[in-house]
Amino acid sequence: MANRLFRKKTVEQIISASTKTAGLAKVLGVRDLVSLGVAAIVGAGIFSTIGLASFNGGPAVSLLFVFVAVACVFTALSYAQFASTVPVSGSAYTYAYVAFGELFAWIIGWALILEYAVSNMVVAISWSQYFVSMLGGFGIQLPGWLTMAPAYASEAYVKLQEQGLESLSKADQVAAMAYEHAPRLGDIPIIFDLPAGLITFLVTWLVYIGIKESRTASNIMVAIKIGVILFVIFGGIFFVKPENWTPFAPNGVEGVLSGVAAVFFAFIGFDSISTTAEECRNPQRDLPRAMIICLLVCAVLYILITLVLTGMVNYTELNVKDPLAFVFEYVGVDYMAGIVSVTSVVAITSALLVFQLAQPRIWMTMSRDGLLWKRFATIHPKHKTPSFATIVTGFMVAVPALFFKMDFFVDLTSVGTFFAFILVCAGVLYMDYSGISKQSKFKVPYINGRYLITIGLLVAVWGIYRYGQEAIMEWRHLSIPEIIEHKLLIIIFWLVWIVLCIMGYIYRFSLLPVAGILVNLYLMSQLGASNWFIFLVWLAIGLVVYFGYGYRHSKLNKADAP
Ligand code: ALA
Repeated sequence: MANRLFRKKTVEQIISASTKTAGLAKVLGVRDLVSLGVAAIVGAGIFSTIGLASFNGGPAVSLLFVFVAVACVFTALSYAQFASTVPVSGSAYTYAYVAFGELFAWIIGWALILEYAVSNMVVAISWSQYFVSMLGGFGIQLPGWLTMAPAYASEAYVKLQEQGLESLSKADQVAAMAYEHAPRLGDIPIIFDLPAGLITFLVTWLVYIGIKESRTASNIMVAIKIGVILFVIFGGIFFVKPENWTPFAPNGVEGVLSGVAAVFFAFIGFDSISTTAEECRNPQRDLPRAMIICLLVCAVLYILITLVLTGMVNYTELNVKDPLAFVFEYVGVDYMAGIVSVTSVVAITSALLVFQLAQPRIWMTMSRDGLLWKRFATIHPKHKTPSFATIVTGFMVAVPALFFKMDFFVDLTSVGTFFAFILVCAGVLYMDYSGISKQSKFKVPYINGRYLITIGLLVAVWGIYRYGQEAIMEWRHLSIPEIIEHKLLIIIFWLVWIVLCIMGYIYRFSLLPVAGILVNLYLMSQLGASNWFIFLVWLAIGLVVYFGYGYRHSKLNKADAP
């Protein structure tokens, strides 16, 4: 059984399977890919969740952006090597099939649903928030019960009962009123986020009718998106008051790190372009380039924008859902707030588009391998898109976006994505070990990690001893059960580092993928145990599906059969 679970595909098998079932239009060049990458990366993260991250961490969140960008660059290099070796649509799922075998491939594919489909729920909800505030700017008020998750309304209503109307924030007042005025089915108020659902269906339709149409729409929206980001940076710079940057980290390292999920969320997406590998003219050359270019562009934009936002307005004011428009409103330049609000609606749509494009292509690849039902690989004869998988993605994203709150999805997405990123970095180490790297047209630059991984560990331990006495004291006061409850994740991080020192010494591991594993794992350990728990439940469900279907129907299974 173990043989079957860890059966691997060879690079040749994967490429030949993809060419046999070809049918996708090969139209994308490096510029389109960069555009799709930027479209995917810049979305709800920078337009919405950065508000709360800055509120908790202060201006120092800009440093967190640097740190997360570094993790992403290491990961992007690893993705790039895989994409240049196995240029088919499954992204990390396909890479894991080559490196670790079928079971891991399935697990990654399952985790990628969190990255693409679940993150799109966040993006759709964020789109709705900007859309509603844009309509408000034009004097159009949609009924509150049509514009939010029921949980927001009921929580605000409870607050209203407890604290009275005056003590509620403006957003809570609107939500509480939505609860009061909602039509009722018996005793249950009918409340849902209609714009979030509608935009998802609209974008799904675009993705369904063709990659060319999607590309053109995405290129236009990306131009607008970069425009609005530059507008905020260069327009906002004049309102920056340097005194707002002091204190730089008002809530210490802990406050900054509480923004990990949000900041990481803002970066995910650069990998989604690897799902269009079969629609690229020259994937082995263009995908690596595009991933790295768009990641660097976004990192610079994000760092600048965080500095501008926290410089314009004191961080304590930034706990809002539409921070980019809010800061201009705050400094009293309403017309600029209006411009940002309108263009943000267009900009966020493009993030939605790319993820709606990516998810069906992963399902298509999994279905081609026999791990999912055959229909997921159906290509529309006229539109040349994976039609059934696209429709399923539409429903899968739109329905939860109608009813659920954003925050839960942000954390869940981030855990799943960190997990996938770590496995992709580890996959490069395997490729080096097994010699597959020889077929890679792009390689992660090799720096011998034989001694450097251990030297890095020693430096880190010294740094903690020298500068982290407070943290050490905190540990000393914890009992063993408390350590297990609160520190298990960070203990796993250190253990993995030690294992990598040993393996790195034996196998002369390449340093950059190892750094990718460690930085991603460290950030992942900061997400909190409850997120990991939910993630494990998600994985368990995935395993039930795999053993219920994929394990028996896998194409490799049939190939093994006598
Ligand atoms: N990076 C994407 C966003 O921020 C997921 O919306």
